[in-house]
Amino acid sequence: MKKIIDLLTEEMQKAFEAAGYDRELGRVTLSNRPDLCEYQCNGAMAGARKYHKAPIVIAADVAVELADSPVFKEAAAAAPGFLNLKLSENFLTNYVKEMRAAPKFGLEMPVRPQKIVMDYGGANIAKPLHVGHIRPAIIGESLKRIRRYAGHQVIGDVHMGDWGMPMGLVISELQAREPDLVYFDESYDGEYPQDAPFTISELEEIYPAASAKSKVDPEFKAKAMEATYKLQTGVRGYRALWKHIMAVSVADLKRNYGKLNVEFDLWKGESDVQGLIPKMVEDMKAGGYAYLSEGALVVDVKEETDTKEVPPCMILKSDGAALYNTTDLATIMERMSLYQPDELVYTTDKRQELYFEQIFRCARKTGLVKPETKLTFVGFGTMNGKDGKPFKTRDGGVMRLENLIRDTQEEMYRKIREGREMPEEEARQVAEVVALSALKYGDLSNVASKDYVFDIEKFTSFEGNTGPYILYTIVRIKSILSKYVEQGGDLEKAVFRNAENESEKDLMLQIAQFQTTIDSASEELAPHKICTYIYNLANAFNHFYHETRILAEDDEEKKAGLIALLALTREVLETCIDLLGFSAPDKM
Ligand code: ARG
Repeated sequence: MKKIIDLLTEEMQKAFEAAGYDRELGRVTLSNRPDLCEYQCNGAMAGARKYHKAPIVIAADVAVELADSPVFKEAAAAAPGFLNLKLSENFLTNYVKEMRAAPKFGLEMPVRPQKIVMDYGGANIAKPLHVGHIRPAIIGESLKRIRRYAGHQVIGDVHMGDWGMPMGLVISELQAREPDLVYFDESYDGEYPQDAPFTISELEEIYPAASAKSKVDPEFKAKAMEATYKLQTGVRGYRALWKHIMAVSVADLKRNYGKLNVEFDLWKGESDVQGLIPKMVEDMKAGGYAYLSEGALVVDVKEETDTKEVPPCMILKSDGAALYNTTDLATIMERMSLYQPDELVYTTDKRQELYFEQIFRCARKTGLVKPETKLTFVGFGTMNGKDGKPFKTRDGGVMRLENLIRDTQEEMYRKIREGREMPEEEARQVAEVVALSALKYGDLSNVASKDYVFDIEKFTSFEGNTGPYILYTIVRIKSILSKYVEQGGDLEKAVFRNAENESEKDLMLQIAQFQTTIDSASEELAPHKICTYIYNLANAFNHFYHETRILAEDDEEKKAGLIALLALTREVLETCIDLLGFSAPDKM
């Protein structure tokens, strides 16, 4: 189904042509002056020079051609040469009617769907998720859902930090605590136990303890380095222990991401590509790309057009060890060979922008990707506290993600209990669902690259530009619809009627922006566009709701028309919040 803006433009182009002007001038846009009109066209201004005529004369000529238009009810030439447009109610009704009948509300699917690997999440094994992990999870999940809905094939990969020194630290600390564990007996050649010798809470305590110890105890640090080396060279007991660390940690990560409604198709990590590194390095050397600089192996990635310094991309440290870069490059290689994607999208903190610029350039230069493969970086800003500094716990520590979620649920529960009669159990469940909307909408409604302030008061409010406000609107619609059904109405049979007043028409106009919104959110990787859209839509609905008798309407046909509009509003809102990664309860 065509976008409404394109249909309007087509009609306008016909009018320009009929009036003897270049049809290309007939581009229609949303109105800058909603008080005067719904859409507008500025083509007459652009045509003035070409036709040596005053813009208002051109606009008036075009307006004449639109006098009987089935699309525009009103096309008025306004000084100095705008065309102010209002849509015909009939045209608008048919458009929303078609939207409700079409799959995905008429969103056009791509001619050539893209295969995209999305790298987001970035959790680290043996370390609990903390507030720093909330943005990559929320934004990445939403981007995945949006691109999928837009018709692309998306593979989401959590890309865990599961290799290197942190693993060595955990293993060494375990050894210090329990030296008799069979994993440390190098003469042992039997099967290792099925169950891990630690729980997740022990693991979470072990890592920070080991990390702190390594900073003050050089001997321990040396041991951890040796353990890392042993793990990486495949010593059996170390491998077995690492597998336990992975299993225990991944189960916990899945649980925590689950609370955020975040899912990954792939649980791959840095460890998966270690075997690819030697060949990759050889190829880079053989291709003449990688050379030794102060002992380290590097690839130059600067370009003539650079306005800032882009340092070489380091492939191996002077001691021959692989680093973060090496693993990311090897991962690109693996993704290209396993999935042949058209695009790779990385969602991380924007402070990694230069790093990914180096990686992308290096991957292109050394032929790890095809010339036409798109490499995209989505950098997000920091989640700050009210003091404008990165969000911390009250005593200045790093807050665990789990605790942030719990606090938001508590606050939501309090607000729900305060405002209405609801049994405790139910209120708890509802609070969970609504809290997720508060967190996610609070994040996603900002342009991703900007920092934002985590304001629990504001985010959990039922009023204003918040997740709970959107859900409240949906719940309100759901309740009217179910009463309609209880009274014997049939939602499927409800037929649209032409809008009878401004607020009803405005609601239809808002709904009709769906395709444009989803397309640009998908192309620009911008979930905030969906937030703006549903906020406007929710406002339009609530305005309409306050002005309209719905269930009390006596005229059954009219009532059914209103119900059809409500049902569509609800479907569109629910689809949009699903793209943002949350859902609405039935009551709240
Ligand atoms: N694990 C990393 C960290 O905690 C983030 C990984 C981001 N993704 C990537 N492909 N480098 O900082």
